Amino acid sequence: MIAEREYKKRRDLLVKKLSNNSVAVILSAQGMTRSNDTDYPYRQDSNFYYLSGFKEDNAALVFVKTKEVKKTILFVQKKDRTLELWSGERVGVKEAKKRFLVDEVYSIDDFYIYLKEFLRDKKNIYFQSNSKKRAIKKISKLTKALKTKHDIVPLIHQMRLIKSPAEIEMIKESIAITARAHHRAMKMDKKGKYEYQLQAEIEHEFKINAAYSDAYTSIVACGNSANTLHYIKNDQPLVSGELILIDAGCEHNYYASDITRTIPVNGKFTETQKELYNLVLNTQFRVIKMIKPQVKRSHLQEVAQKLLTKGMIELGILKGEYKKLIKKQKYKKYYPHGIGHWMGIDVHDPAPYKDDKHQEIPLQKGMVLTIEPGIYIDKDDKSVPKKYRGIGIRIEDNILVTKDGYKNLSQSIAKTIEEIEAISSSF
Ligand code: GLY
Ligand code: MN
Ligand code: MN
Repeated sequence: MIAEREYKKRRDLLVKKLSNNSVAVILSAQGMTRSNDTDYPYRQDSNFYYLSGFKEDNAALVFVKTKEVKKTILFVQKKDRTLELWSGERVGVKEAKKRFLVDEVYSIDDFYIYLKEFLRDKKNIYFQSNSKKRAIKKISKLTKALKTKHDIVPLIHQMRLIKSPAEIEMIKESIAITARAHHRAMKMDKKGKYEYQLQAEIEHEFKINAAYSDAYTSIVACGNSANTLHYIKNDQPLVSGELILIDAGCEHNYYASDITRTIPVNGKFTETQKELYNLVLNTQFRVIKMIKPQVKRSHLQEVAQKLLTKGMIELGILKGEYKKLIKKQKYKKYYPHGIGHWMGIDVHDPAPYKDDKHQEIPLQKGMVLTIEPGIYIDKDDKSVPKKYRGIGIRIEDNILVTKDGYKNLSQSIAKTIEEIEAISSSF
């Protein structure tokens, strides 16, 4: 768990970044209806959670900063027996005052009354200016007279770039559950089964380990389905002789994991599959080994593109001269995505990739990113030797940048051909 002190430290740091004579408002996520009388499970807004650890709907966090006063105010739903009977216990004003290290706590019912008061004589307001939330429009109206409006979101995203030791522990816990899920998927007897049944095994492991949700919809893609990058239908049969691309990670205590393994349905890779698999695996291995502070993500991507291009020339998938193929970006047809992304409270953590001067931010200690090269060859791609058609492979791990290198946080998940074959059920 992340200590209240740490949330307070984050809030204090954010207040430091605000201009003087300002008010900042951050709203909780809005609950969403799924269909009549049925709601989606509530998940707190990531930025709100990052700054408060508070998990309830209808809440607001306000910062007031003047020369004389710096204070944080939390607005929460007040206790209401009847409503709590239906939708669960609320922390309430009194308890929130005790638990969260903020200066003041009030009922959300009085939010606009207080906000008007806070805004008196202030010059600046910070709020989530790109949000579609209804309340934002109302705040906008309230603040018409203010000279300067700022977006608070980039300031928070900036802070989310470097993970604290406590956050890294949370990510590790999330990955540990996902590791169990992938190993369960490998061990499962897949004969006569469908993709959704394999998905169910994975998500069963998430849930029995208290990861109530996936961090994104699981991709369980057999054979040519793996060539649809965002394949989530997961409704096809698992066919012996094919590979299954499994991109699945749980969210645990608000922290994501994002792991891809590509495994054989019947437990054994064919020689053709091995050729492609080892090309992706060696590329991933070489790229991960380069990770250390000051290295740029774009450089990692370049190396992946070059290694995959070389390998695809050797296998006869790409034809022509290496330099020309690179220049013409011919690899894009088979490796169309990025090498990886930041990961944290969100699976695609929205921390910045560029600084204020639009320069790429190099890797630094405490960043967490995915490394996920892949090769995808459509079943109808006549330009490729027949044996490779209909195969899609991605291998994805979650990497922490350390003081002088990296730590692969998902190292324990079977990945080499030998490891996967040893653990997989075969038929
Ligand atoms: N699972 C989403 C991604 O790999 O980016
Ligand atoms: Mn990813
Ligand atoms: Mn993924």
